[in-house]
Amino acid sequence: MNQYGGSRLPFRSVGAEGVTLRLAHTSDRHCETFEAIDASGGYASACLGANHSLMVETLPAALRCGYATDEVEDVSRQEFLEAFFGVDGLWTEHFPFGRYHVAGRNSGSEGVELAMRLLAEARYDYRRQRLRDEFKGRDTILAFEGAWHGWTGGVVPLLNRRHYRVGLMPTPEAAAYGLRVAWIPFGDSAALREFFAQNGGRLLSVIVEPLQGDAGILCPPPKYLRELAGLTRSAGALLVADEVLTFAKTGRFFAMRDEAGPIPTDITVIGKSLGMGVISVSLVIARQELTIRPTGAVCTSDLRPFACGVMSAGCRFLHERGLVAAAHERGLLLRGLLEERLVARFPEVYAEVRGLGLLNGVELTAEVAPRVTDLRTKLIAAGVYVEVMSGAGRRSGGLRYIYPTLRFAPPLVITEDEIHRLVESAVVGTAFFLGERS
Ligand SMILES: Cc1ncc(COP(=O)(O)O)c(C=O)c1O
Repeated sequence: MNQYGGSRLPFRSVGAEGVTLRLAHTSDRHCETFEAIDASGGYASACLGANHSLMVETLPAALRCGYATDEVEDVSRQEFLEAFFGVDGLWTEHFPFGRYHVAGRNSGSEGVELAMRLLAEARYDYRRQRLRDEFKGRDTILAFEGAWHGWTGGVVPLLNRRHYRVGLMPTPEAAAYGLRVAWIPFGDSAALREFFAQNGGRLLSVIVEPLQGDAGILCPPPKYLRELAGLTRSAGALLVADEVLTFAKTGRFFAMRDEAGPIPTDITVIGKSLGMGVISVSLVIARQELTIRPTGAVCTSDLRPFACGVMSAGCRFLHERGLVAAAHERGLLLRGLLEERLVARFPEVYAEVRGLGLLNGVELTAEVAPRVTDLRTKLIAAGVYVEVMSGAGRRSGGLRYIYPTLRFAPPLVITEDEIHRLVESAVVGTAFFLGERS
């Protein structure tokens, strides 16, 4: 199925090594190949790049872990949970030991679906078959304009962009599980306070991407996420962090944190980089009290030993080799170069650079926005593979329109030299787009 509305990009991938993709023009009958540095990481999922030695070693070992379902205890599952969520686990500072439990799914969308399901189950007393007293009158989920939480049926109602919903959702009020969704612009504290003042009592939950990806790589102002968490807790509502995209990219494993430490959530969903670019997997980390009715969310893929082997080895490696922390410095370098070499040199094409760690965006100008595919094609042909964020657009409350934004989220293993080469290829591609000789 062609899911891109028009045609696909005119390139064929014929292999990859590290952060370098080997591509050919689809029109080239001789299939002559060229190299492009990957600024996309395969929808921001391949944090180790291609053919990484760790995965070459890990995959056969993970295969030997077997395929036991979650009906029985499994050694590799136990090891994974112990290493990351145990008493001295790597992520225990973020998810205090004993207060959270974890489920695995196949993708980010399914992880968010499970989070939605946990909210609906929290509201409903399955044994008595009626709404719980403490959640009576709480029928609202707060989401953010431009957000992307996935493509599946239970998730589409969370998205406010018309092009994601039209024909699928009969009215703006129709949401999964009989809940309504309200949207406010992301990062606007005044809108946040006003929303809580008016709707706090009706609120069941808030779902937030700590840094909005699809909406155009929008970073919240300082203290915004902490304030959001505080307001949610005071309102007696549940906070869901969708960290599918941000996981491991912003200089930390989790973007829900500030200088004071982790910002507590009721549910966190992680995905993408968690599968190291070799499998698609997500985790839903929820407070122990949030549960599902018996057998209500049994899933063939829940924390299968193979996936646990990949996640364990991969996340340990990212931590031990300092790759998560290094994303901070590499991101500073990348944003500095994008600013200097692209925005300053081609102000008619690029408006602004935004981002955190290795999750970055360059917004296009209004003039170039309609020609984004042409620009992308030229950039790729010049040797840098970038993606475009399609949730950018109009925001309420008088905030300015966000034009299409190119995402620069290369694998975490990218070197400084490769970052320089990536940006120089973007310079060449942009000059080509403008019809200049570089
Ligand atoms: C923030 C966020 N949530 C959820 C998803 C859905 O993940 P998946 O494509 O693995 O279903 C994405 C994917 O882009 C995402 O960026």
